[in-house]
Amino acid sequence: MKQRISDLSLFGGRAEFENPVHVGRPTIGDRSRFLERLNWVLDNQRFTNDGPMVRQFEERLAEMAGVRNCVVTANATTAMQIVYQALGLSGGEVIMPSMTYVATAHAARMMGLTPVFCDMDLSNWCMDPAEVENAITSRTVAVVGVHLWGKPCAIDELEKLTSKHGLPLMFDAAHALGCSFQGRRIGGFGTAEVYSFHATKVINSFEGGAIATDDDALAQRVRSLRNFGYDGVEGRVIERVGTNAKMHEVSAAMGINSLEALEDTMRHNQVNHKLFRSELYGVDGLTVVPFDEYANCQYGVVTIDQAASGISRELLTKVLNAENVFPARYFDPACHQLEPYRTENPVVLPNTERLAEQILVLPTGPTVCPQDVRRISAIVRCAVTNGHQVTDRFQHQADQQPVSAQA
Ligand SMILES: Cc1ncc(COP(=O)(O)O)c(C=O)c1O
Repeated sequence: MKQRISDLSLFGGRAEFENPVHVGRPTIGDRSRFLERLNWVLDNQRFTNDGPMVRQFEERLAEMAGVRNCVVTANATTAMQIVYQALGLSGGEVIMPSMTYVATAHAARMMGLTPVFCDMDLSNWCMDPAEVENAITSRTVAVVGVHLWGKPCAIDELEKLTSKHGLPLMFDAAHALGCSFQGRRIGGFGTAEVYSFHATKVINSFEGGAIATDDDALAQRVRSLRNFGYDGVEGRVIERVGTNAKMHEVSAAMGINSLEALEDTMRHNQVNHKLFRSELYGVDGLTVVPFDEYANCQYGVVTIDQAASGISRELLTKVLNAENVFPARYFDPACHQLEPYRTENPVVLPNTERLAEQILVLPTGPTVCPQDVRRISAIVRCAVTNGHQVTDRFQHQADQQPVSAQA
């Protein structure tokens, strides 16, 4: 394991990993069960249109989340769009955090709604409810909370605020499947919660999403909207304008497979998370973002403070890449810094901007074993504890390069 700067591959040492280690490798579950399910779908000859795999996946998700309805979709982005449509929202402002994946903002924008971005509370890494209250105006039509990296956002405060103002509250729960808040699984809060089963998520259906809600009438409307607006009863009459956001049977088969592995995946991720916490404890300028024991821990999130450590996040990334480790920036730039939102309605969100500069997500998940976490942590510890020297040496090395090699 890496201990000295000279061990680092960036400075001539041997790469720690022979094969690349990435963030967000898919959770397949039991491969032979998946192949059985795939064969079953092929034999059954019903590939889509609310087939048996989709129904089973929906039932099992609803049971896991303790919610009355789960309506699965082609992905989470269209799921959010059809929730807006089902709520009858076609204009006005939707308040949301900027520290989220751009899909949260785009889903609103695609429905003719205007995202209004709020800053976050750095003490708990979620959208600050006081900021939300300040942003509510007569134009506000909804509030969206995001359970960033699976950390439940300020659910109680947001529920109180939205019920005081008579606003629907949707949660982007793309990261939070399996996580709990006050003893209840994420999925049953607010007007509706939306999961993603994109291949990088804690459970995957290749691509996919779901709308979880205890509101039966809303569930019926979103079912119809995901299927061209057909009625939910006979499925023959077009009742409204709808889209095609259906999940197909092979996706649902993978979703079920991956869901069956959820408890094991979470236990594995929790062990990895505890290891990151202990292995990287006490490193100046580096924080391992904490998760409680009810989190799915699918992201190994750290922040790097360059002023305190002497090393930038970009250089730490270079150090890791040279070792064949590929971290990710979830999320930099934040939404309000991205072209369409930055230019149309510029805002300054100091906490979000600071976090966006510092965040780094390290690989974890079922393909990353505890020993890998120790090895990744050793690289990070070595680079960050010697941050100033690593920076100087890298600079020196760059200065020695011939100009043609630098270009
Ligand atoms: C926070 C968040 N919201 C929404 C999405 C969009 O999900 P999907 O890819 O299923 O549309 C993602 C990522 O994919 C995400 O990370």
